[in-house]
Amino acid sequence: MSPHNIISEIEGLGDKTAKKLIWNARNALGMTDFIAAGDIDENTEYITTGSSELNRILGGGFQTGKLTEVYGPFKSGKTNLAHTIAVTIQLPKKKGGLGAAVAYIDTENTFSKEKIKRIAKRFGLDPKKVLSQIFHARIYSSDHQMQMIQKAETLCKTRNVRLIVVDSLMALLRAEFVGIGLLARRQSVLNNMIHGLSRVAETYNCAILLTNQVSTKMMGMFSADDAIGGNIVAHGCHFRVMFKTKGFSSNNSLKRRAIIVDAPDLPPEEAEFYITSVGIADTEKGDVSEGPGLDFEVETLFEEEDDIEENQISEKVNGEHSLVEVRGIGDGTAKNLAKNGINTVEDLIDSDPEAIASVLSGVSSKKVVEWQADAKILLNV
Ligand SMILES: Nc1ncnc2c1ncn2[C@@H]1O[C@H](COP(=O)(O)OP(=O)(O)OP(=O)(O)O)[C@@H](O)[C@H]1O
Ligand SMILES: [Mg+2]
Repeated sequence: MSPHNIISEIEGLGDKTAKKLIWNARNALGMTDFIAAGDIDENTEYITTGSSELNRILGGGFQTGKLTEVYGPFKSGKTNLAHTIAVTIQLPKKKGGLGAAVAYIDTENTFSKEKIKRIAKRFGLDPKKVLSQIFHARIYSSDHQMQMIQKAETLCKTRNVRLIVVDSLMALLRAEFVGIGLLARRQSVLNNMIHGLSRVAETYNCAILLTNQVSTKMMGMFSADDAIGGNIVAHGCHFRVMFKTKGFSSNNSLKRRAIIVDAPDLPPEEAEFYITSVGIADTEKGDVSEGPGLDFEVETLFEEEDDIEENQISEKVNGEHSLVEVRGIGDGTAKNLAKNGINTVEDLIDSDPEAIASVLSGVSSKKVVEWQADAKILLNV
């Protein structure tokens, strides 16, 4: 899939040999035949973003095999999305993940281990394990960025990486290539990055998240935010999503709006979501649990970092499933359930939803029925 000028740069290979090698390789893989459209392999998979609204407008979640650009003003939630899906991709498939690892290319030094740990707990995953499956690179220059994008490809081969995050795509390029005189060079570097990533996305059915900054354009009386990077980014990405803080007072509210700006097969829809301390979510508090009992639970969730092993999050307890494996049950809720004699997923299935709702503050019987449904999936019953 590489263009031949790149292969011919390898020492000892001339232009002709490079071309021959590539053509023969394509023949060997059957890439030189047209195929009937019915036989096209569209094995798109989806990663949950933490917000069901955002998943909905994305057509089911963050998609593999494609480049997705998320752009928006500062504080709009781009880095929060990057952190959230770096965790959710590690969930098993039936919980909205791919059971896979992440390469995180960090050009702004905004990656936070603490945030990852909190998000991991929210989704009932072991924070230590989650961190071990995020391969992080702090980037200092645009050629370093290119180098690590290439390196990320090897991680796809060897470490089951199925998501590459570049947060943010343009920050270093914007600072390095200043002025119109360097624009052509900047676009050429950018072009190489986008094409490299496109190839990786397709070859390994890997999801790619590129975050991007905006510049404000004045058009007479109106102003509009537009992503930077020009046509190369605009055309190179399959999905373009805009995050907005406007319309909400960005200091008082953590509510954000996402808009599908361009997608091959999605309507131009909008969704609202929240930034929370546990990543992107549908509600202000994250969906650790719901109702008035929540504040307390969110707090306990962030304490006791070292108790993880004892709690055996997502481990089996005496051969049985632990409660935190059920979607929507966090550490705090599991503890409260245990106080009422419900210690395992099996206990939960056998319990009376009304009775549980009456003893747990902020939990409705409907919520318990949802837990039971998820618990049954977990146990295959
Ligand atoms: N623990 C937290 N709880 C709630 N909100 C938080 C928390 N941490 C950060 N935020 C909010 O998230 C916002 C920052 O989001 P994020 O870093 O994802 O923005 P961004 O789009 O990446 O911005 P930039 O362009 O500056 O990189 C801020 O408004 C901040 O108040
Ligand atoms: Mg950011």
